[in-house]
Amino acid sequence: MNKDLLSVADISKNDLEKIFELSAKLKKERGQSNYKPLAGKSIAMIFAKASTRTRVSFEVGITELGGYPLYMDQGKMQVGRGESVADTAKVLSRYLHGVVIRTYSHADVEELAAESTMPIINALTDDFHPCQILTDLFTIYEYSGKVEGIKLVYVGDGDNNMANSFILAAGLAGLELVIASPEKYRPNPELMERFPNVVWEKDPMKAVENADYIYTDVWVSMGFEEEKAERFEILKDYQVNSRLVAAASDAVKVLHCLPAHRGEEISAEVLDSDKAIVFDQAENRLHVQKAVLALLFDKEL
Ligand code: CP
Ligand code: NVA
Repeated sequence: MNKDLLSVADISKNDLEKIFELSAKLKKERGQSNYKPLAGKSIAMIFAKASTRTRVSFEVGITELGGYPLYMDQGKMQVGRGESVADTAKVLSRYLHGVVIRTYSHADVEELAAESTMPIINALTDDFHPCQILTDLFTIYEYSGKVEGIKLVYVGDGDNNMANSFILAAGLAGLELVIASPEKYRPNPELMERFPNVVWEKDPMKAVENADYIYTDVWVSMGFEEEKAERFEILKDYQVNSRLVAAASDAVKVLHCLPAHRGEEISAEVLDSDKAIVFDQAENRLHVQKAVLALLFDKEL
């Protein structure tokens, strides 16, 4: 695996196979294994944005693998008072063995990685959320036994960190990806050009025909709160509700990275139905991130 996990572009097909295999093993053996590849290693978790799943699953995962997780609020670091990202990277590299970071600018995370001698894991930027997407691919693999050729329709904000990550994932894993979004939030044109197999469709009802999975995410991502009223107005016809789910395949499953807002991007009826597998998906964050940490730190793998 590459030194860092900044986006799905850092993952090869071979890495993905190893992540699936190891995630399944770590999931099965949880609580009964003495596998401690992070023994003696301190990993900082720097967060500039809110988090429930990512923070807890990384903190627990690092601990279970024998490491020491240190939570750091980015707002309380000197980088918020003008210290450069490069100096921060050099200093932290003298103390730590790795960093998990959730922040706004993806370029800052790239700089942190370039200037650090230790692995950097992107725990969400404005542009990408690779830990979530690897988990989503693993969850699909668990439910469907494969990822290649599976039709996944992502409905809603087509221009956010999740949609961007799905485009890269479709290229990596051969997912048949359709993004259903309004014109205003259509997927990133540069990424769409690189992955011509990904389809953009304005009509969500048409998009979900024969879908194996429907996926959605919040309409207002962290950092975009000022656009809330405009986003709600433009995205209102893109709710994942019973009508939309009925237009997909009978066996369709619904995924959501969470946090969910019932009555906004997804109806309560769908989220609380047995079509939704969001809590299995959320649980898998722990197992998949442990697999990623193991691959980054265990030289034997
Ligand atoms: N899905 C996800 O990343 O959740 P949190 O924002 O709670 O970490
Ligand atoms: N697109 C969402 C994902 C949250 C996990 C956000 O960035 O807020």
